[in-house]
Amino acid sequence: MCGIVGYIGPREAYPIIIEGLKRLEYRGYDSAGIALFDGKDLKVCKTKGKVVDLEARSDKEITKHGSVGIGHTRWATHGVPNDVNSHPHISNSGDLVIIHNGIIENYESLKKELISRGYTFKSDTDTEVLINLIEDVKKQENVKLGKAVQIALNQVIGAYAIAVFDKNKPEEVVIARLGSPLAVGIGEDEFFIASDASPFLEYTKDAIYLEDEEMAIIRFHKGIKIRKIKDDSLVDPYIQKLKINLEQIEKSGYDHFMLKEIHEQPKAITDTYRGRLLRQEAIIKMAGVEDNMKKFLNADRIIIVACGTSWHAGLVAEYIFEDLARVPVEVEYASEFRYRNPVITEKDVLIAISQSGETADTLAAIKLAKSKGAFVFGVCNVVGSSIARETHAGAYTHAGPEIGVASTKAFTTQITVLTLMALRLARAKGTISSSDFRHHLLELEMIPKKVEEALKSDAHIQKISEIYKDVNNFLYLGRGYNFPVALEGALKLKEISYIHAEGYPAAEMKHGPIALIDENMPIVVIATKKGHYEKVVSNIQEIKSRKGKIIGIVTEGDVQVKELADHVIEVPETLESLSPLLTTIPLQLLSYHIAVMLGKNVDQPRNLAKSVTVE
Ligand code: G6P
Repeated sequence: MCGIVGYIGPREAYPIIIEGLKRLEYRGYDSAGIALFDGKDLKVCKTKGKVVDLEARSDKEITKHGSVGIGHTRWATHGVPNDVNSHPHISNSGDLVIIHNGIIENYESLKKELISRGYTFKSDTDTEVLINLIEDVKKQENVKLGKAVQIALNQVIGAYAIAVFDKNKPEEVVIARLGSPLAVGIGEDEFFIASDASPFLEYTKDAIYLEDEEMAIIRFHKGIKIRKIKDDSLVDPYIQKLKINLEQIEKSGYDHFMLKEIHEQPKAITDTYRGRLLRQEAIIKMAGVEDNMKKFLNADRIIIVACGTSWHAGLVAEYIFEDLARVPVEVEYASEFRYRNPVITEKDVLIAISQSGETADTLAAIKLAKSKGAFVFGVCNVVGSSIARETHAGAYTHAGPEIGVASTKAFTTQITVLTLMALRLARAKGTISSSDFRHHLLELEMIPKKVEEALKSDAHIQKISEIYKDVNNFLYLGRGYNFPVALEGALKLKEISYIHAEGYPAAEMKHGPIALIDENMPIVVIATKKGHYEKVVSNIQEIKSRKGKIIGIVTEGDVQVKELADHVIEVPETLESLSPLLTTIPLQLLSYHIAVMLGKNVDQPRNLAKSVTVE
């Protein structure tokens, strides 16, 4: 979703903002813009397209000078992506300038009111309404900018992260947040504003994350003051020391972040179970689970809510929790769950899974479950994110920053955390024998090495990709634990190559998708040794008799599928419950190579956003 970057301090703001916007490109966007105060006047440049387009335009249109500025990457909600709708937006007087991430839901009525008072609008955006509302309040009430922002935000319904300044008082930037993330980097007599810390990591490791319903007034030489938007009370700034470094958010020699992140999976999975999986002692240590064991043990059921890839991780978890810990599990799309008046009781445990920890629908589902008395546990990757803070307890995935929009290492580390949780719970409930438990620990500990093995098929997968890159449709089939992997494989292909793909439980194929199969249809079938192997082999035979092209994901040394399939990709053998951690790898690589061969923007696919902070 939209990215926000701002600077106030002694340096030139332009390069800091431009580089910062590039770091936020992964969030997904369709236009970009910048506003600078050059010592005399406000300079604004904005354009449909990428940050490089903004740079090219800035070269021609503005003096890139000034030590106060705000920049934005926009992911269109209200109004198509074009130059006019891009941010920053300026108020009617030309004095105030704003960037905004989020949606002002009541913007139509506010706009009508402002039009009746003589305001005019150039764009179709809710943001231009907000900046004029702030201007109107400032004039009507004769208050300073900070107060005007506060009064205006109290009239607004929706979600926002904003940064605003007045060209007549450029030594001050006002920011505020409700529902969309906003961080402030604290340097020596300088401040950086951003949607996440990546734009300012090279300048400072000290950061303040604004909470929902907080605003801050940042003044050059004078520091930062944080207040509650509703009641104006002062908030003590909590300065965090960031642990991530620049290297983690750079490509390190890979062509794309996605490829780097695919290859980081052995390390990410190890980092995720490190300190938790203690094989020698035959225990699993997870403070968030331990401290709330009663809640888990007394739960009537576990409800998992998530979106996108995280939802697929939830589906894998359904199999493993039910299989090992014998607890009923329901997996819900957060966006459906929150709006369908679900039956939730105090005896429910809700697990929310989210890489970013900012997904608006997942956050809303959490709030709903909490209001009904359920215990809510978060599985997030981004430390300190909104979901991590909103949940009663949780476990981080330790995947490190994931920049590629198509989620890869977040998925496998989510499965790792959820597997650890299921095993811990199974042990506490006595639904797993001690030898089986030890066996699982041993096998899980070996997964990173096996992922490394699976990654060695890269060149082979590249050749298969070459053959199928020009088709229009793909089918992905799997059963049991690997049914969600089929869904995830299809999603990966759709996301980055724009080829239509469907994931199906292999046995369901007969009830519809089989009609699609002909000699032009490639079908990826996950047919590992332990998961209903014979049944899947029968499904493969059904495809073969209809001349479909079969790409089998098989266990090392497989013979049967090899005879039937057009291509096979081997993965090492493991327990059925852990197989998704391996079978996912070739599917990630397949979609990656196809997308690269088609010349698609792998890391920033069209229309997609990394972190979806609007519903
Ligand atoms: C977006 C991303 C997906 C992600 C989904 C859920 O659609 O493009 O990759 O799976 O949001 O995001 P979350 O951060 O909650 O896991």
